[in-house]
Amino acid sequence: MAISIEQPELVDYDVENERQRNVEEFYQLNHINQKYDFVKRMREEYKKLSRVEMSIWECCELLNEIVDDSDPDLDEPQIEHLLQTAEAIRKDYPNEDWLHLTALIHDLGKVLLLPSFGGLPQWAVVGDTNPLGMWTGKCGHVMGS
Ligand SMILES: [Fe+2]
Repeated sequence: MAISIEQPELVDYDVENERQRNVEEFYQLNHINQKYDFVKRMREEYKKLSRVEMSIWECCELLNEIVDDSDPDLDEPQIEHLLQTAEAIRKDYPNEDWLHLTALIHDLGKVLLLPSFGGLPQWAVVGDTNPLGMWTGKCGHVMGS
């Protein structure tokens, strides 16, 4: 009697390792460069809202050009991330239309990576955020100093 064993889907470890390495490098740059003074300077620059005027959908379409280096599981253009997130939220919370919109626009700030919005480096725009300029306690480090 032959035993049938289902084969697991093969994982390309080289691709996985390279992606993981890229994420690690990304967060290293993020922690080295994301300082309080930098963030203050960027807030001053971008709160002017002087670059362009466009619709939400036009802005979403700009994310077709962006892949987020901080996300090890996603190498698709960010517009897909926006649409998948909004659709998943709509499915789980069908009566919360404000939440669908929030999910759709939650990453529009990633346009700052594009040259027409300043072409900031990935470490300055995407990924997890951390408190800056405050004492963190036990480890003895001051983040963003
Ligand atoms: Fe996101």
